[in-house]
Amino acid sequence: SLKAIIAPSMLSSDFAQLAKEANEIVAVNGADWLHMDVMDGHFVNNLTLGAPVIQCLRKHTPAFLDCHLMVERPQDYITPFKNAGANLFTFHYEATGIPGNPITPMEVVQQVKQAGMFCGISIRPPTPVDVLLDSGLAAAVDMVLIMTVNPGWGGQSFMGEMMSKVHTLRERYPHLLIQVDGGLGPDTIDTAARAGANVIVAGSSVFKAADRKGVIETLRTAVAA
Ligand code: DX5
Ligand code: ZN
Repeated sequence: SLKAIIAPSMLSSDFAQLAKEANEIVAVNGADWLHMDVMDGHFVNNLTLGAPVIQCLRKHTPAFLDCHLMVERPQDYITPFKNAGANLFTFHYEATGIPGNPITPMEVVQQVKQAGMFCGISIRPPTPVDVLLDSGLAAAVDMVLIMTVNPGWGGQSFMGEMMSKVHTLRERYPHLLIQVDGGLGPDTIDTAARAGANVIVAGSSVFKAADRKGVIETLRTAVAA
C-alpha cells in the first residue's frame, strides 16, 4: 500500500503562534507535512498568507511546506515561493488557460519544476478529472489535489461525490501522490482512503481536537489499511 502523508492545514491553527503550532504538530503530534493555504481574495473570497509568511515560518521549522495556492496568476508566485523556502507548489488548473491568464497549466508545471520545487495541480469540485488525463498533466506533476470542498474556508463538509475522481486517477496512476483537502477527519477518512487518496489534508478535525496526535494517527492508520 502507498505511504500515508498527513498534512494538517495550518489555516485552522493560531496564526499568531504559527511557528509554535507548526513545530508542535510535527514534532509532538506526528504530522508529516505542513499544508499552507494561500488565498488571494480573488481566486477565492478569502485572504490568508503569502510568501512573506512562508519565509518567516521557514526560519523556525525544517518541515516540508506544502503550499496550496488558491490564487489568480499562479506563475507570479513561483519565484517568491521558491525564495521563501516552499517545498511543494500546488496551483489550481482553473487559474490558467483562461482569457485573463492564457498561460497553459503545463507551462506553469514546467516553471515550478525549473525553479526547483515539487509541483502539484488542483481541481475544484465542479472541474472534471478528465482535464488532467489526456492533457498529460497528471503524468507531469508530483501530486494531484482533488478538492473535496469549494476552496475558501476551513470547516466545510466533505463532498463524497469527489471520490470517483480519486478512484479514476488511482487506477491510471498507481504511484501518484493523490491529495484530498476539505472536510477530512476520522468520520470521512475511510471513504477517501478506499478511493485511493494517500496525502491527507485535515484542518479543523486536527486543530479542534483535544487529542491532535490521536486524530493524526487515526488518519494514518486508515490510509495504510
Ligand atoms: C480550503 C482549504 C483547506 C482547509 C481545510 O479552501 O484548502 O486546506 O483549510 O480545512 P478543513 O479540514 O477544516 O476542511
Ligand atoms: Zn488547502
